[in-house]
Amino acid sequence: MNPRTPYTFVINRSVIIFCLLIWLPVLAAAGPMEDASETGRLLAILLDTGRAAIAKKQDLINDASKANKGFTSDIFERQVAEEFQQRTGIALANLDAAQVPAMAKPLLGRLMQESKKTIDTYQSVINVPGFAYKGLIPATFGTETAARFQSWSGIYMKQTAPSHLVRNPRNKPDEYEAAVFSKFTTTAPPEAPDTVFTEVTDEGKYVRVLLPLFYQRACLACHGEPKGQRDITGYPREGAKEGDLGGAISVKLTPPAPAE
Ligand code: HEC
Repeated sequence: MNPRTPYTFVINRSVIIFCLLIWLPVLAAAGPMEDASETGRLLAILLDTGRAAIAKKQDLINDASKANKGFTSDIFERQVAEEFQQRTGIALANLDAAQVPAMAKPLLGRLMQESKKTIDTYQSVINVPGFAYKGLIPATFGTETAARFQSWSGIYMKQTAPSHLVRNPRNKPDEYEAAVFSKFTTTAPPEAPDTVFTEVTDEGKYVRVLLPLFYQRACLACHGEPKGQRDITGYPREGAKEGDLGGAISVKLTPPAPAE
């Protein structure tokens, strides 16, 4: 066995439901590695839910004929909270009562605040009529939000992609991420949308979590065909198809000290 990989496990919705049924009575006793892994999974899904919320409003944001878009950070928050609950079963408005690791609660709250700040910083730009591209797209949202969250929490969080797909050099995969990409299937497993790859590394020093991102139809306006032709942001399109692997949200946490 590779000494860097003491144990590996993959979580998806059905595994979670199965685990909840089996482990409900002992959930409170989950160890620090499981807590860190679940925290990373939830943080990655929350960042991705924000990305998806922007993707859904992209046509509105890019509408050159309209001034006030009504896409405030409060509207955004409501939309994200609703979708996050659909994806995870967790109500962000009532985190105290939620079945989530203690370490995750302040982090999820803060990530939501940072997400809203990103939407706030774009308000004056998105409400100006007369031009389409305003710089607010899922990727810029993700990059800026993750960077501020990381500087507050010290938790490494980034959007990345396999090397041949990376647009922004800052999103280049590190060695670990590149190795994980080579293990991912390149098309989405349809019945398990939020499957994460999670692993304890460096002899228990870190827990790493990667949530793969698969291109949906809305992504293809920029990442799809025709390959090589520039999209609205000025980058050449990758020629991707719906369901292809586009990248991942990567989180690296230090597990909490075990309870006394
Ligand atoms: C409006 C065009 C546009 C849309 C729509 C779009 N992207 Fe991107 N994407 C970009 C741009 C531009 C970048 C590079 C951003 C930067 O400079 O940081 C990027 C970056 C990324 C990255 C980070 C790695 C990299 O290449 O730097 C991932 C992963 C990604 N996109 C996946 C997606 C997925 C999945 C969707 C659909 C949910 C999507 N994108 C929708 C334009 C777009």
